[in-house]
Amino acid sequence: MISEIIQPLFLLIIFIQLSITTSQNNDRVALLALKQTWKDTPLKWNDGSDPCGDWVGITCNNSRVTQIVLTSAGLTGGLPGDIGQLTELEYLDLSYNDLGGTLTTEITKLVKLTNLILIGCNLIGTIPSNIGNLASLTDLSLNNNRFTGTIPASVGKLNNLYWLDLSVNQLTGSLPVSPGLDMLTSAGHFHLGDNKLSGDIPPSLFNSDMKLIHLLLDNNHLTGKIPSTLGLVQSLDTIRLDRNSLSGDVPSNINNLTNVHEMYLSNNILTGLVPNLTGMEALYYLDLSNNTFAQSNVPLWFSTLPSLTTLKMQNTNLVGELPAALFSIPQLQNVDISNNLINGSLDISANPSKQLEHVNLQNNLITDFRQRSQYTTELILVNNPICAESGASNRFCVVPTDVTPTSYMSPRSNCKSSCGAHLIQSPNCRCAYPFTGHFFFKATAFSSVNNETIYDSLYDYLKSFFQADASFVDSLSLSNPTRDLNNYLVIKLEVFPNGKKSFDVNEIGSVSSALSQQTVKPNNDFNTYTFIAEIYILGPGVAKSNTGIIIGSIVGGCVLVVLLVIAGLYALRQKGRAERAVQQSQPFAHWDPAGGTGGVPQLKGARSFTFEELSKYTGKFSETSEIGAGGYGNVYKGSLPNGQLIAIKRARTGSTQGGLEFKTEIELLSRVHHKNVVGLIGFCFDQDEQMLVYEYIVNGTLKDILSGRSGIRLDWMRRLKIALGAARGLQYLHDLADPPIIHRDVKTNNILLDQRLVAKVADFGLSKPLSDDNMSHVTTQVKGTLGYMDPEYYMTQQVTEKSDVYSFGIVMLELITARNPIHKGRHIVREVKQVMNKNKELYNLHEVLDPTIGSGSQLKGLERFVDLSLKCVEERGNQRPSMSEVVKELEVIMTMVGLSPDNEPSPSTSATYEGAGKNNSDHPYSNETLFAYSGSFPHLKLDQK
Ligand SMILES: *[C@@H]1O[C@H](CO)[C@@H](O)[C@H](O)[C@H]1NC(C)=O
Ligand SMILES: *[C@@H]1O[C@H](CO)[C@@H](O)[C@H](O)[C@H]1NC(C)=O
Ligand SMILES: *[C@@H]1O[C@H](CO)[C@@H](O)[C@H](O)[C@H]1NC(C)=O
Ligand SMILES: *[C@@H]1O[C@H](CO)[C@@H](O)[C@H](O)[C@H]1NC(C)=O
Ligand SMILES: *[C@@H]1O[C@H](CO)[C@@H](O)[C@H](O)[C@H]1NC(C)=O
Repeated sequence: MISEIIQPLFLLIIFIQLSITTSQNNDRVALLALKQTWKDTPLKWNDGSDPCGDWVGITCNNSRVTQIVLTSAGLTGGLPGDIGQLTELEYLDLSYNDLGGTLTTEITKLVKLTNLILIGCNLIGTIPSNIGNLASLTDLSLNNNRFTGTIPASVGKLNNLYWLDLSVNQLTGSLPVSPGLDMLTSAGHFHLGDNKLSGDIPPSLFNSDMKLIHLLLDNNHLTGKIPSTLGLVQSLDTIRLDRNSLSGDVPSNINNLTNVHEMYLSNNILTGLVPNLTGMEALYYLDLSNNTFAQSNVPLWFSTLPSLTTLKMQNTNLVGELPAALFSIPQLQNVDISNNLINGSLDISANPSKQLEHVNLQNNLITDFRQRSQYTTELILVNNPICAESGASNRFCVVPTDVTPTSYMSPRSNCKSSCGAHLIQSPNCRCAYPFTGHFFFKATAFSSVNNETIYDSLYDYLKSFFQADASFVDSLSLSNPTRDLNNYLVIKLEVFPNGKKSFDVNEIGSVSSALSQQTVKPNNDFNTYTFIAEIYILGPGVAKSNTGIIIGSIVGGCVLVVLLVIAGLYALRQKGRAERAVQQSQPFAHWDPAGGTGGVPQLKGARSFTFEELSKYTGKFSETSEIGAGGYGNVYKGSLPNGQLIAIKRARTGSTQGGLEFKTEIELLSRVHHKNVVGLIGFCFDQDEQMLVYEYIVNGTLKDILSGRSGIRLDWMRRLKIALGAARGLQYLHDLADPPIIHRDVKTNNILLDQRLVAKVADFGLSKPLSDDNMSHVTTQVKGTLGYMDPEYYMTQQVTEKSDVYSFGIVMLELITARNPIHKGRHIVREVKQVMNKNKELYNLHEVLDPTIGSGSQLKGLERFVDLSLKCVEERGNQRPSMSEVVKELEVIMTMVGLSPDNEPSPSTSATYEGAGKNNSDHPYSNETLFAYSGSFPHLKLDQK
């Protein structure tokens, strides 16, 4: 009787368990299919183990697969459609695997995917026409494959897309618009070069709402005119339209694009006069060569573009004398105006650019060369009348022998012995199998190939990037810079493993995904790149067995049985995991508060309080001591027996975090000691309570004070000091804290002011230390506060210190305007830029400045402050200064204003209160997000493996 009841009940329980875990099982089934497809590869995923815990390259959340990152993993055999089952997948990067096959349309079921990165995977076929279903995509990189067919119009639906790279494929057809590329108003990058795209560039492709930074359409079959709407896209930094069949006049408003650094319009059939580029003062690199322009006079802008390094106007029908001033543009390196009608006398000014390397004026009509000083740089005048007269006696009248390409290699080593087959000597003379590949820099600011200083800076950057945190990297080398047919700068990179012959699949993944995901960000001189890795044969001793195939087919026949068994095992395993998790969450159970044993947190200066103690200091957590509340719980004010005021953040029951996380957090917070950072005094982990005890900062938040409610008046000098203090606090977190900390939520709510108005950075509730394996970035979910959030971080979800720099730039703007970052739906950066006019006094910012800041001559240095804040909010992280540069510049401004940067305001000059009627008792911790202690700390894991 009883068993009759129990049996159905038992089945019912199994049924419920199965349906709860159905989607988890789908994930598992899909992973098994991937495993089956990639069975013959170095991946050693083990059936019996938990894919979420033990499988290389797989990351899960709540037992659902959220990331697959397997770059350079030696995968072959294609991408099976089963991947469409992984409906929680957010991140897929399989770059640098010789996968082959087509891109399955099943991929379009992954609606949560934010990053789809399949660079250099040897994929064929078309891009799925409904790729637009991937509504969350921010990064779509399908470059360097063999895709054919057209760019699907549905890409227009990807309205979160920031990075679109389809370059180096065999795509045909026209650029899709309406629907299509024109709808991607969040996009910063269209990299569509090296395809077979044809048709006109539609005028509707561009509009003034776009935020496009890089427009790369080079080496296609595009025809028709360059649309004048291009002149509306003010954000453009790089334009490559070269090597197409574009015709007609260059639109006259092209010189509206005052932010463009590199522009290539060469090798088209453009007509009309040479365009007027007056005003394009940011231009470094300009190539207009090989077009069919009408005879044009040497344009005036030749001597007025102040940043020019490279001027290429081969074969452009130019007439007239070259102005001497052209050659004294300070950074000029390379001038190629060969095959034109340049006449008269050549005058290279007395003071030519010190960086000048190469001047080519072959095939012109120059009759005279006035050499005001001994000119030593290379100059080619072959086939000019002047050479007919003076002949070969003039050294400028012979074609120079080809310069041997530089054999640059950094570092150079002097290793004695050599290595065996397939092994390469590292700069440290160890024989190993390096990760190897090439950078393709698509639009450098410079044109020199031989200036080694430039490559040294790249080497130094890469070295610090790869060696700063990754102990598995021994050394790296950079060599053989060359220019390819597209004028891309190609440089070889080798990265050597530490203490062994070759990298394992995890290590190779972190090195190569930093390149596929553009986490490696060389300085702006190098501009945008694609990195192509060579196939890495994972370690000797990686056995390939044929038995896999046999076993595979047997298993294939029994899939159903196996699945049921797996489901059962999986449920059991989950239970085991849960039990383990419970154990792990109570690590303090064995704490000996007196210190000593291993479980105790490593605390520097923070002390442990009992519940009774804190209860006493706060009058039993009375209502009157409550000074703030939020989702996480309350904040109380209290005082220690010695009179020191404290602020206690008390997690509400139910919002406490795991013991390990709590321990990790207090260890982290207790290591932070700086005048401009709010200090942790202690914590309480007692009677099921979790509390953090901070110093109490009397004057509250900068936000409140700027709002005027507190009655404290901040003049310009005070604001400057506050900015410097807060900047120093952040610089400390970035550069000196151990481990370094990215704040992730810098805003005026999180900057507190003490009784002397010294700024203190608060709230590490969202901070995350830079952990070892993540190199210099951390990929996590987007956190932060609207208005302060770095757009690049938002798009790429990669947190760097530069995200804090962005937020700090917003704080600086808020400091002078006292406006919320988003005010009536408009962003403060836009608002400031809109009224800003650099030619007017105070940049014409009167109407947006906070009236209480002062006026006129009191505001010395304000322009420079605004310049700095706008640099901090540059679109691209690598264009922003570091916090230490910000500190330096603020110190300079302080000095300009006549303040000593190290002077703290003395108490007598501090808080002056006005408006007696105002409520001074407004407590500073009223804001919910202040000290927001989220309770769970999923992104704070110091012990990631
Ligand atoms: C995991 O998923 C939960 C719920 O979907 C989400 O709130 C949390 O932020 C996720 N954690 C991570 C680390 O992505
Ligand atoms: C120049 O750019 C500005 C800003 O986008 C735009 O308003 C203006 O119309 C452009 N001028 C021309 C001639 O295209
Ligand atoms: C070139 O453009 C500038 C600024 O738009 C203008 O002042 C100048 O007159 C133009 N020059 C010629 C030769 O058209
Ligand atoms: C211009 O065309 C010539 C002849 O085809 C070619 O050799 C040269 O490299 C081209 N110049 C540029 C800058 O592309
Ligand atoms: C090489 O480049 C650096 C940095 O751009 C520059 O300062 C230096 O003058 C260059 N050297 C030569 C020889 O042009």
